[in-house]
Amino acid sequence: MQSLAIIGSQWGDEGKGKITDLLGQKCDYVVRYQGGNNAGHTIIVGDQKIVLHLIPSGILHDHCTSVVGHGVVFCPRAFKEELEDVQSSGVNITPERLKISENCSVITIYNKILDAQRESQGPVKIGTTGKGIGPAYEDKTSRKGLKLKDLLDREILEKKLRANMIEKEVLFKHLYNIESPSIEKEVEELFELGKLIKPFLADTFSMIDKAVENDKKILFEGAQGVLLDIDYGTYPFVTSSSTSAAGIYSGAGLPGKYVEEVLGITKAYTTRVGEGPFPTEMFCDLGEKIQTIGNEFGATTGRKRRCGWIDLPLLKYSVKASNITSIALTKVDVLSGIEELKVCVGYRYKGEEIDCAYPGIDLSQVEPILKDMKPFNDDFKSDEMSEELKEYLDVIEGAIGAKVGILAFGPERSQIKFIQNYF
Ligand code: GDP
Ligand code: IMO
Ligand code: MG
Repeated sequence: MQSLAIIGSQWGDEGKGKITDLLGQKCDYVVRYQGGNNAGHTIIVGDQKIVLHLIPSGILHDHCTSVVGHGVVFCPRAFKEELEDVQSSGVNITPERLKISENCSVITIYNKILDAQRESQGPVKIGTTGKGIGPAYEDKTSRKGLKLKDLLDREILEKKLRANMIEKEVLFKHLYNIESPSIEKEVEELFELGKLIKPFLADTFSMIDKAVENDKKILFEGAQGVLLDIDYGTYPFVTSSSTSAAGIYSGAGLPGKYVEEVLGITKAYTTRVGEGPFPTEMFCDLGEKIQTIGNEFGATTGRKRRCGWIDLPLLKYSVKASNITSIALTKVDVLSGIEELKVCVGYRYKGEEIDCAYPGIDLSQVEPILKDMKPFNDDFKSDEMSEELKEYLDVIEGAIGAKVGILAFGPERSQIKFIQNYF
């Protein structure tokens, strides 16, 4: 295998960081292609915990080049902080090992302010991470945004930022009733941050193109999950990028045929941070128990993650929407020993029973059909799985039409079983 995409198959936080780190060991390149520092990807090595937001999760491997493709919205301030943080954990990040596209769109202070105002003043609260992601993608698609290369020339930077601010100043003053921070100050700060970022900037499109020609091994690291995709997700409660595998082709710059397989990272149950419908959400003590055992707190915002049973109609949809060829089932240890175990195998919706959450279905109106499963009590000390756990996997595989290729049963690197080989 030459290339593999890591895609979250639910609403994010499925354990993409851990799996990317492990498979990144075998790769020449790990590439982020969408999203921004709304992502929080956790890697545990020994007693060290590293949370990556913008930097790809291949960064812990010296031989691996980490690439941030042009589809990422890039917050220079967040990058500075993350760089310092990760380096203070003893990871050496050099411009040889980290390449950032000069065409990444920039998240400005104004994008963050807009995000915050919309969340606090409405009319619709999405429950965003507050990092300015949506407004930055808006600037990009409305062709008013800044690219990272613009930070290197003070005159261009100022000219573009002033043009970008004409409409925002009206919004700040007349809709949200707030002061606009000074443009001069923002120019100054972004120009300074540009100096820090400059050595890392590269033409990542040509790099990846060459890597493909030279048969290098490439891992594409998705952020968020299919159900947060701007087109495929549970709109409007989504993020603003193409989180499915489709985002790779535009966000990394790659011929479509090159992504050989898509590995859907799937939590053994379901979590969601922020607003939006969640058919299998548990509002009982058991939900809290899973939340506690699974330590379900957002890696970016620290918010409590909502918890529910695994939702196979949604998963089946994600498999179709992102062309997922196999899944990594993570956090199976969290369900071990849970005495009441259920999976959602279908929905009752408008008098019918359905087994796939196709778009057009109003998820706030479905009644989940829950199947009782025999609880499992595996301690994962041996390679053998209990019959009950095997059955749990069988039910998932049967419903979604994809095999479980990886089983993860703890946050550490060693807590993993490869059923299928990748790379
Ligand atoms: P990501 O955004 O998909 O990379 O996932 P996060 O890092 O936001 O959240 C996943 C959390 O679960 C992290 O704290 C991981 O360390 C942890 N984790 C990953 N895999 C497993 C697993 O198999 N079992 C347990 N208990 N924790 C895991
Ligand atoms: P990783 O990569 C979980 C959610 C937010 C909110 C919605 C929109 O760690 O899986 P945004 O700030 O992107 O405009 O917020 O998307 N969200 C995530 N939820 N994991 C993430 O990333 C997320 N990134 C965004 O909670 O509901
Ligand atoms: Mg996360």
